[in-house]
Amino acid sequence: MQKFEITGGIPLAGSVRVSGAKNSALKLMAASLLTTEKTILYNVPLIQDVYTMADVLRAIGASVIISPGRVEIDPSGDLSYTTPYELVRRMRASITVMGPLLARQGRARVAMPGGCNIGPRKLDFHFSGFEKLGARINVEHGFINVAANRLTGDVISLDYPSVGATENLVMAACLAEGRTVIESAAREPELIDLVKFLTSMGARISGAGTDTIVIDGVDELGGATHTVMPDRIEAGTYMLAAAVTGGELEIDGADPRHLEIFISKMRAIGVGVDEYEGGIRCRGGDDYRGTDIATLPYPGFPTDLQAPMTVLLSLARVHSIVTENVFENRFSFVDELNRLGADIRTSGHHAVVHGNCRLEGAIVEAPDLRAGAALVLAGLAASGVTEVRRIGHIDRGYENFEQKLQLVGADIRRVEAGEPAPSPTPFN
Ligand code: UD1
Repeated sequence: MQKFEITGGIPLAGSVRVSGAKNSALKLMAASLLTTEKTILYNVPLIQDVYTMADVLRAIGASVIISPGRVEIDPSGDLSYTTPYELVRRMRASITVMGPLLARQGRARVAMPGGCNIGPRKLDFHFSGFEKLGARINVEHGFINVAANRLTGDVISLDYPSVGATENLVMAACLAEGRTVIESAAREPELIDLVKFLTSMGARISGAGTDTIVIDGVDELGGATHTVMPDRIEAGTYMLAAAVTGGELEIDGADPRHLEIFISKMRAIGVGVDEYEGGIRCRGGDDYRGTDIATLPYPGFPTDLQAPMTVLLSLARVHSIVTENVFENRFSFVDELNRLGADIRTSGHHAVVHGNCRLEGAIVEAPDLRAGAALVLAGLAASGVTEVRRIGHIDRGYENFEQKLQLVGADIRRVEAGEPAPSPTPFN
């Protein structure tokens, strides 16, 4: 029920500290269900999705204590195996409790994720992987039921390197009997972070970061302490904030190794990017070249930075072509961005971004998390006042977003709006 009001045109300057990665923290929290001992996670971002995942774990029967930067999870009591619709509806990542519950409890009953674009097809890699490990699956009355007496390792060849399916299957396989090999696995840094955590709990896993992951099942896992990796998507978002405002920001804590293709594209456009001990410095300019981008699984260009990058491309001197290969319908922000003065046309999974635009403040609505962040960036670059509505989407994934931007000079404030709550989306 809140919105951002942004007065744009101010070059940002100073330093921003990057938070722990949302897409890692959520899976680490789910993985904590694999043991009966306590786990402690540090550098956890205090964002809405983390609170939702805490509610998911509590609904299952674990105790979760959240304090700044720290989450303590105690799953020692009797656990249920059901995840309610209301929580899964709010956050698709709730489905990552399926693997841990199946491994520890022998069954899981998880509400089918809601949202307009999500259907059974979108979980087919999770399902076929669980079946390979010996589980039985049925979907009825809007719930996914998955059960197995004891999971047994096998070779699982994914049709596509799905991040969520790889994570679910790695977690399930940790307690399976024998060896599981996952081929065409996702290679995302967040998956490597999850594997580090599982290894410190006693799991035997090799190959994380390559497309073949080998898991030798163990009888039980113990508690562990882990520090969540930095959020590469948040880091990229602040780099783009520097670029679109023609400012200069140091992104403390960002790891440039997680952003190689993104950084090479930024340099190709004409943004200055330097690494320093413990972070990335990003220097904007006022004359950008266009470049084409195509999203792909890691290490390709991240789909989560596609919308924010499109804002920068709309300021470039010439046109660019953006190709979205990971998700369907991920150009929902384009009409909103065009309302701010961009000139972008889409056709299927391509967008032609005509450069040379002068963005001007207007009222826009955030259609999802990353698109919402992109509209904030556009507002920071635009002349005059921009109102970004439905910012509940942005609160799901960015810790202290407006405060961090204010600290580097942005004129952005949160005001009550009386708008409807955001509906769920399949992205992020
Ligand atoms: C995760 C990230 C999200 C990121 C995405 C791709 C979290 C919480 N979210 O989402 O921010 O944008 O990776 O990097 O970590 N698919 C199927 N069948 C399946 C599974 C996936 O068809 O069984 C399709 C999806 O519909 C989508 C594509 O594969 O089109 C990628 O999905 P996936 O890699 O699974 O992304 P998520 O884990 O949902």
